[in-house]
Amino acid sequence: MSRHRIAVIPGDGIGREVVPAGLEALHATASRFGISLELDEFGFASAEYWQRHGTMMPADWEETLRGYDAIYFGAVGWPEIVPDHVSLWGSLLQIRRTFDQYVNLRPCRLMPGVRSPLAGREPGDIDFVVVRENTEGEYSSVGGRVFEGTERETVLQETVMTRIGVDRVLRFAYEQAARRPARHITSATKSNGISISMPFWDERVADMAGRFPDVRVDKLHIDALAAQFVLHPERFDVVVASNLFGDILSDLGPACAGTLGIAPSANINPERDHPSLFEPVHGSAPDIAGQGIANPVGQIWCASMMLEHLGHPEAAAHLLGAIEDVLALGPAEAPLTPDLHGKGTTVELARAIADRVRERSPI
Ligand code: NAD
Ligand code: IPM
Ligand code: MN
Repeated sequence: MSRHRIAVIPGDGIGREVVPAGLEALHATASRFGISLELDEFGFASAEYWQRHGTMMPADWEETLRGYDAIYFGAVGWPEIVPDHVSLWGSLLQIRRTFDQYVNLRPCRLMPGVRSPLAGREPGDIDFVVVRENTEGEYSSVGGRVFEGTERETVLQETVMTRIGVDRVLRFAYEQAARRPARHITSATKSNGISISMPFWDERVADMAGRFPDVRVDKLHIDALAAQFVLHPERFDVVVASNLFGDILSDLGPACAGTLGIAPSANINPERDHPSLFEPVHGSAPDIAGQGIANPVGQIWCASMMLEHLGHPEAAAHLLGAIEDVLALGPAEAPLTPDLHGKGTTVELARAIADRVRERSPI
């Protein structure tokens, strides 16, 4: 029996509601497939921890988390208590960088039973992955602010792209594309306006293309690409993007596929010399936190991605299949949450998926 140690960090807001929901589905899947999990839950990376300690994480967080096989994460951020840039740079962004989780893999799929806001779209029309660069780019601490409070006040924040950093995420994206039937990559650029970093990105995309002759490559400027997501989502297979462009596309894609609430993400360290982190794409959603109506599917799908990463592809596929079965019933038959036009609660939808995990025959 394989055994894995998982660090669980619920975080803030709906993170605390969807993480227990995700764990219910994870436990149901693990026991069905004879996978033994050892879970430890941590209260840091939350506004509550910040209020008590004045930092987002303990000084020894890195040693604490390093020993785990994976991190199962909810969402961080409670801007009423701690400014977002403080809470995020003090937790999630620091974990991504320290553990060199340089790929942020974000699948986007229109699921059966889910209504897209785009007219006439059906399952199969939207099925792509965003591969987001996750440790450099526009998210940089290089810069500063001078002449503060004066008319000459000036702020600078530099984009940082390294050849190693760009090439490694591109290689991952090309490898993904080479394994998918369509074998197609779209690179998000803006080399017409951002005249130093983006032409460099394009150059590296072209260079990597030479090593993957079977993969078709397109590049689209980010503004046009965003429009194409809405107009022709069926044209996308693997979308590779810098940190900021990938962030924006990975909210837009799921919105086109019905709701942000079902979108998962894997912050991966492909070399496996540090734990990878699995979290939904969405945040702590203060506007609905505490109401019990957050969609738990993104968090549950993350459990499937985590099982895949831990070497259990059948269990991962089984859990994703259970999600699909329940969504396919639609809001009249299944306790879907309000973002899916249903009247169900987080707990009811998670229970329905966990039950389905136990009932459905293995693939
Ligand atoms: P958000 O993703 O939390 O919410 C955006 C909108 O989507 C809200 O209307 C929300 O109600 C809805 N939504 C999100 N998840 C949902 C779900 N599971 N079910 C139903 N509806 C859902 O983004 P925001 O409002 O920009 O950010 C809120 C806080 O979360 C901020 O502090 C932000 O910095 C933080 N944040 C954290 C992460 C993370 O930890 N990975 C990601 C994004 C935002
Ligand atoms: C995400 C989030 C984070 C990001 C924020 C909260 C810093 O939006 O994971 O997509 O921009 O990476
Ligand atoms: Mn985001």
